[in-house]
Amino acid sequence: MPDDSRPAVLGLIGNTPLVRVTRFDTGLCTLFLKLESQNPGGSIKDRIGLAMIDAAERDGRLRPGGTIVEATAGNTGLGLALVGRAKGYRVVLVVPDKMSTEKVLHLKAMGAEVHITRSDVGKGHHEYYQDVAARLAQEIPDAFFADQFNNPANPLAHECSTAPEIWAQTEHDLDAIVVGVGSAGTLTGLTRFFRRVQPDLAMVLADPVGSVMADYSRGQPLPTPGSWAVEGIGEDFIPSIADLSSVRQAYSISDEESFDHARQLLRAEGILGGSSTGTLLAAALRYCREQTVPKRVVSFVCDTGTRYLSKVYNDQWMTDQGLLQRTRYGDLRDLIARRFEDGRVISVGPDDTLLTAFQRMRLADVSQLPVLVDGQRLVGVIDESDILLGVHEDPAHLRLTVASAMTVTLEVLPPGASLVELQGKLDRGLVAIIADAAGFHGLITRVDLLNHLRRSL
Ligand SMILES: Cc1ncc(COP(=O)(O)O)c(C=O)c1O
Repeated sequence: MPDDSRPAVLGLIGNTPLVRVTRFDTGLCTLFLKLESQNPGGSIKDRIGLAMIDAAERDGRLRPGGTIVEATAGNTGLGLALVGRAKGYRVVLVVPDKMSTEKVLHLKAMGAEVHITRSDVGKGHHEYYQDVAARLAQEIPDAFFADQFNNPANPLAHECSTAPEIWAQTEHDLDAIVVGVGSAGTLTGLTRFFRRVQPDLAMVLADPVGSVMADYSRGQPLPTPGSWAVEGIGEDFIPSIADLSSVRQAYSISDEESFDHARQLLRAEGILGGSSTGTLLAAALRYCREQTVPKRVVSFVCDTGTRYLSKVYNDQWMTDQGLLQRTRYGDLRDLIARRFEDGRVISVGPDDTLLTAFQRMRLADVSQLPVLVDGQRLVGVIDESDILLGVHEDPAHLRLTVASAMTVTLEVLPPGASLVELQGKLDRGLVAIIADAAGFHGLITRVDLLNHLRRSL
């Protein structure tokens, strides 16, 4: 008879597969990835969601009808929401605003209450996500603050499940593990287990550029923290549960290298991981290639890439962030988000309906479209207000043609025009149309100019 008192999905947490990396140059080493993305909540954090809730139930900090509160970059929230909701608790999560939309939507879909807070402020600021969560936990009656950054059940989950699984899967033959640090639960749990069974094992730190962990692990003074786009790892302080005693080497990996490696992993091995997986893979490959004797090395696919489709795997977002390199001309063409020559222009034809134009704008999240004949020759531009003007008296006008509502008097700028001329156009509420004798190159909007200015920060 199945035990109906425990939700079946909880039995799916852990025991994730370990796969060998075969399509990358790993030097003399053999590199394995543990697919934490295969957990039911899609990340390594399901393990601690389960462990922290079980522990809180055991010691009476969480009782029926209680509320689980946590500060989370998303994955811990998903783990807590998965386990907490399955067990019938209310789940309240505080999430910094740099987290991907997919994670927030997933949390809400699971029934968690999500508070978005600022990601540009540090510990001690009243809007810092961990401080907000601590405050909520005090205000909400019967609240249990999971507090992964200080909760001993977090490293214990990895000491008791992740680590022994790796040890068994590598048949007790392992030299190094490459990890990232968020709360440091993974690093600390693995360190404690392997100190007992394989004291020579090297922990290798994969840290985003801007995080303080890598310098700290080398015994250097804490640098001023920077910022990074990789999610889930890297810290601006040293978590209280961090045990760095087995860290032998640390690599600082740029966002560009991390995102590129996540994309390479998908193309080469067919494994869809998140941004931090790219950081770990980049560091693991560097470590493997530097070794002068063969070693067996394990790293992680910490979470599934499906929650980063709008970021890591979205060329447009990558280009906007300056993370994807493309031809640079040193003129206004560098500011065009969707360049004609790259086949990236979203356009309509003059004979398309206004409904088609509107739907295309919504799908691409843009406010205006160039109107091209045969997808080539620019004959107009249509924006949201043109459509609104055409249809506000009668929605049936959505069936009229784009030609009937588009702007045909086009003020064009050549690629060689100055930023001042561009600004002049944008200030007059116009979108800048970049074209010359060679044809139409693309549009530049205010958002594109802002992205350009941010990239040059
Ligand atoms: C997305 C993500 N979350 C969490 C972790 C592990 O972090 P923690 O130090 O909190 O165990 C990793 C580790 O690489 C990660 O990539």
